[in-house]
Amino acid sequence: MRAIAFDRYGEDVLERVELDRPVPGTDEVLIRVAATSFNPVDAGIRGGWLSEIFPVAFPHVPGVDVAGTVAEIGTGVADLRVGDPVVGMLPMTANGAAAEFVVAPAESLTAAPTSVPLADAAALPVVGLTAWQSLFEIGGLRAGQTVLVNGAGGAVGDYAVQLAHRAGAHVTATASERSAARVRAHGADRVVGHLDLSGTPAVDGAPFDLVLNLVSTSPEETAALVGLVADGGMHVGTMIAGDPDPARGVTATRVFVRSDAGLLADLVRQVDDGSLTVEVGRRVTWDDLAAVHADSDAGRTSGKVVVLAA
Ligand SMILES: NC(=O)c1ccc[n+]([C@@H]2O[C@H](COP(=O)([O-])OP(=O)(O)OC[C@H]3O[C@@H](n4cnc5c(N)ncnc54)[C@H](OP(=O)(O)O)[C@@H]3O)[C@@H](O)[C@H]2O)c1
Repeated sequence: MRAIAFDRYGEDVLERVELDRPVPGTDEVLIRVAATSFNPVDAGIRGGWLSEIFPVAFPHVPGVDVAGTVAEIGTGVADLRVGDPVVGMLPMTANGAAAEFVVAPAESLTAAPTSVPLADAAALPVVGLTAWQSLFEIGGLRAGQTVLVNGAGGAVGDYAVQLAHRAGAHVTATASERSAARVRAHGADRVVGHLDLSGTPAVDGAPFDLVLNLVSTSPEETAALVGLVADGGMHVGTMIAGDPDPARGVTATRVFVRSDAGLLADLVRQVDDGSLTVEVGRRVTWDDLAAVHADSDAGRTSGKVVVLAA
């Protein structure tokens, strides 16, 4: 089968390759890929920066998100049929979905949304799960509480703002001009520009019951964000936990997204009932994937990139 892969860690290492079509084992299925989507973790794995947490075997195919149709069923799989359209978050260290076919644990998959094109559904799993797990499972966010989403202009932020707003929280979001209108449309009550975290930032609406930090911040910058948390509240970071402040009852945690087909099915239901919008910034093909990774390395990413199987 055709795929994009890398055979060593580094910057300019993605190339088109021919690989054996994988065979699904027990409790696995083979998926004919419609699309994957780019997540910053794909670049972290490719660059080798995450090799201790997510070591991969070479050649490695990137692409943790998958949308496609079931092509073959392994033994022990009862609830999927050949031809079913599915979405899922794949295991981080297994071969990913920048390929014609990928093998996935059946338990990581759920029916794809019917209200968006199948390929666009690849924009949902990792970032949707991250947003939900951060806000509710870890952050315990409830109706009537206040939340600051730092980095709301990114792909996780797209879902964090929508989900927090729908849950009845009051949402303050940081976003630059290019993303502000989209963040407002997703239900942010207040949108402010990127924060200067070199001192003590003054943010309208502070302190917040929950600060969700989706930006790569230094320990000092993270401490400034923890300072925006209300007594008894929480800081949740996708890149750094930050230090708790026991004197004020403030806790600090880092999220590690996990695949959860049941939760993903809930998000898919919300997409299909019109209450959750799947945001796609750009649709590209495999030939553009190296440039997408380079943009991410240089901090130039804006909007979710769906990578069509081609
Ligand atoms: N730990 C986990 O399990 C986990 C899971 C998923 C993601 N992550 C991490 O979480 C982060 C967000 O992921 P993502 O997919 O949303 O990334 P993304 O789409 O690449 O986020 C890019 C956005 O970040 C915003 N941004 C950059 N610098 C900022 C700043 N100083 N202040 C506020 N916003 C800023 C920009 O928004 P504007 O357009 O407004 O400028 C940009 O559009 C990434 O670092 C990713 O690796 C971790």
